[in-house]
Amino acid sequence: MTTTPLTRDRIASTDHRDRGEGRQAWPIPDAEELFRSLYTGFDSGPATSLAVCSSVNGEGKTTTSLGIAIAIAQDLPDRRVVVVETDLWRAVFAKDFEFSPSPGLADVLLDRVPVSSALRPTRLDNLTLLPAGSHIANPQRLLRSSRMPEVIDALRRTHDVVVVDTPAVLTHSEVALLARMVEEVILVVRFGVTPARQLNDALARLRGANVRGILVNDTKSSVPELVRQIARL
Ligand SMILES: Nc1ncnc2c1ncn2[C@@H]1O[C@H](COP(=O)(O)OP(=O)(O)O)[C@@H](O)[C@H]1O
Ligand SMILES: [Mg+2]
Repeated sequence: MTTTPLTRDRIASTDHRDRGEGRQAWPIPDAEELFRSLYTGFDSGPATSLAVCSSVNGEGKTTTSLGIAIAIAQDLPDRRVVVVETDLWRAVFAKDFEFSPSPGLADVLLDRVPVSSALRPTRLDNLTLLPAGSHIANPQRLLRSSRMPEVIDALRRTHDVVVVDTPAVLTHSEVALLARMVEEVILVVRFGVTPARQLNDALARLRGANVRGILVNDTKSSVPELVRQIARL
């Protein structure tokens, strides 16, 4: 994941309105290949789920979650993919994809709406997003509730791949629970930034979860731009 630095602010100011509907080309071959390699094993078989974790904020969990989901959705039109935004503290889906923040996961966990009403379509027919939803006072209590595994199970019944974008593992102990609700976990680190001790601490917190591998992200590519392109406007 290399090339031009691109911040979320620049993405938000990008004029994407004149882009055509339908399947988008991948502008960065390396990124396409990288995300494709990450979903190996999810391309067939029964419904499965994956959590993308990292030790602290800003290491690329959300970017990676969306990148993997887009790669699967684009390459495998028969696989239905959903990305669940569980970082209720730093919700970005609604802003980045320019849709209403609620209803979303928090509203589903509070039993205000069924999960089907909180899903957002994208330009890819087989990719949906479940945003964080209404701002609530006590996110940790909701993520720890027995409703959370029920929601993941419900999504597994309607989708083939459930990608869970999580909060930072070192600051939110709920992530260890989320990581055990899914089949596999990918841990993201930032090249040259994440200290080894921090990585080890994160791995210790995730003990009991099935950590499939560590993704080294260097946050110097235009990956977020291609992620941005899938929004249905
Ligand atoms: N490979 C990358 N290239 C460029 N920018 C990146 C890359 N990975 C992450 N970013 C940017 O870094 C910031 C943090 O990434 P994000 O995925 O939101 O991290 P997290 O979810 O772990 O907090 C965002 O502005 C995102 O667009
Ligand atoms: Mg995030």
